[in-house]
Amino acid sequence: KSKLKTNYIGRNIYYFDIVDSTNLTAKKLAEKGEEEGTIVLAQVQTRGRGRENKEWISPKGGIWTSIILKPDIPAVNAPQITLMTAVAVAKTLKKLFKNLDVGIKWPNDVLIGNKKVCGILTESYSRNESLEYVIVGVGIDINVDINSFPIELQEGATSIKEELGKEVPLVDVLCEFLYEFEKVYEKFKAGKFQEILKEWRALSKTIGSYVEIRKKFGKRIRGEAVGVTKDGALILELDDGRLKKIFSGACIHLS
Ligand code: BTN
Repeated sequence: KSKLKTNYIGRNIYYFDIVDSTNLTAKKLAEKGEEEGTIVLAQVQTRGRGRENKEWISPKGGIWTSIILKPDIPAVNAPQITLMTAVAVAKTLKKLFKNLDVGIKWPNDVLIGNKKVCGILTESYSRNESLEYVIVGVGIDINVDINSFPIELQEGATSIKEELGKEVPLVDVLCEFLYEFEKVYEKFKAGKFQEILKEWRALSKTIGSYVEIRKKFGKRIRGEAVGVTKDGALILELDDGRLKKIFSGACIHLS
């Protein structure tokens, strides 16, 4: 704990050797009135959850954590928190592992090269259009053997261990992440989301690539990613030159 440089993020930690999902546990705590900044941390998750109801494989060696936040913002701005978190993760990895090619894939996957090293699952709960609390779930594959994953997941995924060929101290990465997270969250609460977006753009691997967006029900849209709007929606230039805003969907880099 002495390595932790934050004021309130991660000052209360609920640690579990094994838990179903840190997001679920954090939600239960938040329902009981747990304060902002408390985190849930697990060594292993048995039912780690990813986006779109996918499973998130969470063996020993990863950072599996969920942060409870209570920002005073309109519920429609909740997606900004996910973008902000990706910036915090990417900055952390860049700072600690200078040789790695760290970047962000829209909206919020952190990549090394073109492989995913971190996923973020933000779940917000609101009452009367205002946010009651937000759970920010972060999974970073640190000392994880990707070849222990189901074969279909191996190709697109990597870990810090995989990239460096050695294990790194997990707690140091966690403390640095919480520190970067608090800094960017303070900026966010001060109404400086545009500054955060600037950092996001600088870290983005999506802008400038030709991408395919896969929406629900099999709908696909292709185009060149040319920017993000001030709320973080992706701006695509379609093949016929029209611009289209994309608010959600899975993004695949084709170039
Ligand atoms: C994604 O699909 O990219 C998001 C993955 C989020 C995984 C993290 S691990 C900690 C937290 N608890 C969960 O059950 N999921 C998130």
